[in-house]
Amino acid sequence: MIDFTIADLVATIRIDRPDKLNAMTPEMAGALVAAVADCNESDAVRCVIVTGAGERAFCAGSDISTLDGYETAWDFRNRADYCDALRACRKPVIAAVNGYALGGGLETVMACDIRVASSSARFAAPEIKLGWIGGGGMAAGLAHAIGASNAAMMLMTGDMIDADRALAWGLVSEVLAPEALMARAVEIARTVASRAPIAAETAKLNLNAAFNMPFDKAIGYERDLQAICFATEDAREGRAAFAEKRPPVFRRR
Ligand code: COA
Repeated sequence: MIDFTIADLVATIRIDRPDKLNAMTPEMAGALVAAVADCNESDAVRCVIVTGAGERAFCAGSDISTLDGYETAWDFRNRADYCDALRACRKPVIAAVNGYALGGGLETVMACDIRVASSSARFAAPEIKLGWIGGGGMAAGLAHAIGASNAAMMLMTGDMIDADRALAWGLVSEVLAPEALMARAVEIARTVASRAPIAAETAKLNLNAAFNMPFDKAIGYERDLQAICFATEDAREGRAAFAEKRPPVFRRR
């Protein structure tokens, strides 16, 4: 249901329930949270790809049939939140959106740092059609990603947008033919994984912090983070490799 593999410093988390459009059950949410924890802990992971199994869906959101299983709205409120886990992942995360990204699926996309999509991808916040709203970062994520009016359009209609509109609105960085999607996601992931890993993790920290800080404080924080990176062995290695005209060998130190 959550397929987790690691190869060449890149972890791939595949949401794997294609017959239900990869709709997320509580068990799958727990497995996704555990996979992210493994990524955080493992030195064999420098970048993470999140994608969906099959050709139709990235993730169609929470499995609606399981939602009656919560005894109270408070139990629902306190369920394992895989989007929180992804947002807190220390390693850079790439979403490879291979089809429907709806509800929690769209929130999952927005919890990833870099997003690329297949031309068949479709995005929506359909909760309003069911009687509630998203709770995994939907409004906050859309407001950051696509601006107020576009966010309101998605939140208040619940209607889908296609991949080209998602690209035009800045929700994703690239749109690819379906058969080219994973190769491109892996190419980006391997590029990120080849960079100095402490600097890559710090860049993520820095970018996320910048969203939540006044501009002048964000620049001060950035300068502190830069100094921390500058003090690493990897930074010394980067300069030495440049001087010696050879590729750097980064050791996450
Ligand atoms: N929860 C549970 N099951 C879901 C699901 C979800 N979020 N999304 C899709 N499925 C299931 C369908 O019930 C169906 O199962 P079945 O074959 O046993 O009947 C299967 O996945 C295929 O979906 P289906 O609806 O037949 O495909 P479609 O092409 O006709 O429609 C969608 C595709 C995405 C438009 C439609 O499935 C849909 O609206 N899904 C709900 C999306 C949603 O509201 N997500 C937010 C939940 S909070």
